[in-house]
Amino acid sequence: MSNVTRRDFVKAASAVSAIGATTLPGWAVQEKRDPIKVGFIGCGGRGTGAANQALTANKDAVIWAMGDAFEDRLTGSMKSLIGEKGTRAEVPKERQFVGFDAFQKVIDSGVDMVILTTPPHFRPEHIAAAVKAKKHVFCEKPMAVDGTGVRSVMESVELAKKNNTNLMSGFCWRYNPALRATFKQLHNGAIGDIESYFATYYAAPLWTKPRKESWSDMEWQMRNWVHYDWLSGDHIVEQACHSVDKINWAMKNEAPISCTSVGGRQMHDGVDRGNVYDHFGVMYEYADGRRMQLHCRQMPFCYNDNNDYITGATGTCTVNGWTGAPVFTGSSDWTYTGEQANMYQVEHNELQAAIRGDAPTVNDGDFMAQSTLMAILGREAAYTGQRVSFEDMLNSTTRLGPKEYAFGELDIPPVAEPGTTKLNR
Ligand SMILES: NC(=O)c1ccc[n+]([C@@H]2O[C@H](COP(=O)([O-])OP(=O)(O)OC[C@H]3O[C@@H](n4cnc5c(N)ncnc54)[C@H](O)[C@@H]3O)[C@@H](O)[C@H]2O)c1
Repeated sequence: MSNVTRRDFVKAASAVSAIGATTLPGWAVQEKRDPIKVGFIGCGGRGTGAANQALTANKDAVIWAMGDAFEDRLTGSMKSLIGEKGTRAEVPKERQFVGFDAFQKVIDSGVDMVILTTPPHFRPEHIAAAVKAKKHVFCEKPMAVDGTGVRSVMESVELAKKNNTNLMSGFCWRYNPALRATFKQLHNGAIGDIESYFATYYAAPLWTKPRKESWSDMEWQMRNWVHYDWLSGDHIVEQACHSVDKINWAMKNEAPISCTSVGGRQMHDGVDRGNVYDHFGVMYEYADGRRMQLHCRQMPFCYNDNNDYITGATGTCTVNGWTGAPVFTGSSDWTYTGEQANMYQVEHNELQAAIRGDAPTVNDGDFMAQSTLMAILGREAAYTGQRVSFEDMLNSTTRLGPKEYAFGELDIPPVAEPGTTKLNR
């Protein structure tokens, strides 16, 4: 896919809403009413949670196959799932797959849908394989760690649309009932035209997995994955992408034209903290001159905040990023009084309804690819110290990480240096 433009996102987004507004071209109906066979790849915290939600969504769903790079993660996950859901989570040995090719074996094992929850570096390849095999997909955020990965995801998005298979993202706030109602208010002009959006993701540092003697460089980095840009995309991509996605949502999925950022590694030290930054301050510039901002950090003993502060022409709205609760002032004093539902569960309820043909096919592809790219753009503007255009980011040739996957030697990549690090490297 060469020279993709900002307009490709705009065109794709309007095509999807046009479909939604009229009749659907046939839903992705699961012909038989047999149990939905769920496979999941990346049996860590989120994968186990999502598998549990898939089983809760439908009493006929079963975990059919599991895959992980490491056997201990797979067996730990299965044990905990059996504890909660019983035999529906009991996967026979022949459908437990371990290693770098586990994803393909899960996909080929006869599953109907897959949950993709490895570290994000591997996501583009896993999405591509699952969509190619016409599986329904739930893929966690972020969907890639570099422009090369996002372009691959965009191709998969188009193929899923063509095949009419479901492709749901882990940008879970889009499935939160309170936030859905809030963004509807914003889009209907409750505070007038949105003039600025200031998102925060000030949080504590994430866990580390100190190296064990038996681990190779590769195994250590994979187990300690959040601290390497090639595996996690850095915390702006891995964690604060939720806030980026909310900016994107508020802007009705219009892509920015460029981005400038600052960032660095002020408090992180020691080998366990890899090569990532611990803070970013990002400004996205839009075609009409509006500027939307994100500040995020992962530092200990500091003030934490995950609110979004939105200013419109006639009022303001503050969205609480932990609970989703909005506070409107000015032209609207609307408050949310609807249902409070677990957004992670809503995702799987809606996905399985779509797989069953009881709801329209889901394809979150355009916004999930764009929000991921915007988060990568924020990182790259900070890493390079340059004003980076959305299109240069989208067409960047950088592919982070080793060319081949093997458990052996692997240097920790250098920490990016603004003014020196190149966008295409
Ligand atoms: N939507 C949310 O709110 C939310 C919350 C938590 C995590 N996440 C996302 O979910 C993903 C997983 O995060 P987590 O917290 O579960 O991490 P985790 O470390 O608990 O789990 C990741 C698992 O993937 C396995 N793995 C690594 N490389 C693999 C490969 N190539 N093939 C197969 N398995 C592989 C690991 O061994 C591990 O078991 C991340 O992208 C993260 O950002 C999303």
